[in-house]
Amino acid sequence: MKWDSNLYVQKHGFVAEYGAELLDFVPCDPRQSILDLGCGVGTLTERLAGRGGRVLGVDGSPDMVRQAKKLRPELAFEVRDALALSYCEEWDVIFSNAVFHWIHDHERLLGQLYQALKPGGLLVCEFGAAGNIAVVEDALRQAFARQGVCYTSKFCFPDAKGFSQLAEAAGFIVEAAFEFDRPTPLKDGEKGLYYWARQFYREELEALPEKGQEEVLHGLEELAGERLYNGKEWVVDYRRLRFIARKKTS
Ligand code: BEZ
Repeated sequence: MKWDSNLYVQKHGFVAEYGAELLDFVPCDPRQSILDLGCGVGTLTERLAGRGGRVLGVDGSPDMVRQAKKLRPELAFEVRDALALSYCEEWDVIFSNAVFHWIHDHERLLGQLYQALKPGGLLVCEFGAAGNIAVVEDALRQAFARQGVCYTSKFCFPDAKGFSQLAEAAGFIVEAAFEFDRPTPLKDGEKGLYYWARQFYREELEALPEKGQEEVLHGLEELAGERLYNGKEWVVDYRRLRFIARKKTS
């Protein structure tokens, strides 16, 4: 997906804040190196900088990395594809928030992460679990169908068991893997879901003429409203998979 970093900062920057709790799983040690994978505009990279000696934020989106460097010039950021990391035993900790559901090949991803970690290194990550945004995706499917378009989910939301099995096959020792509901209120009151969907389903929407796009978005609001709108704000049905695993020491 092509990210608009300005829109992200204005409307959805709060999403990173929900990942802040995950930072508690990263030990504080000035001797350690930390890779923030899928760092976006660097909100959590900045918080990680207090926990390690060397911290690098990487993201596949050049626009996000440009914005991260502008907002946080004292920190290091690079454009790098999560499936082509090409690190060899370089990091003590790999941290990642709200990224892995954008990646379909989890087997390959876990192989890259395993190779990038030093022996005994730690993987700390959280992302969309099975059932994440199910109400939104179902409503969108119906709204697109009204336009004659077949929407199939572009996300990969695994369950804890399946993801743990893949990680173990890659060589990891799983320390914690669990799923939980994290209902997420959106900004912008009654327009919240409209702006959220415009950002995250931009490519699918832009395949339609402007009138069709508006119909899909209003269809989404109509179909999801009963479950997700409380009269003041939209609360999206996020579900998270929190996952902590270690690379074997030898
Ligand atoms: C998520 O963080 O779960 C998410 C964000 C945007 C679109 C889909 C999922």
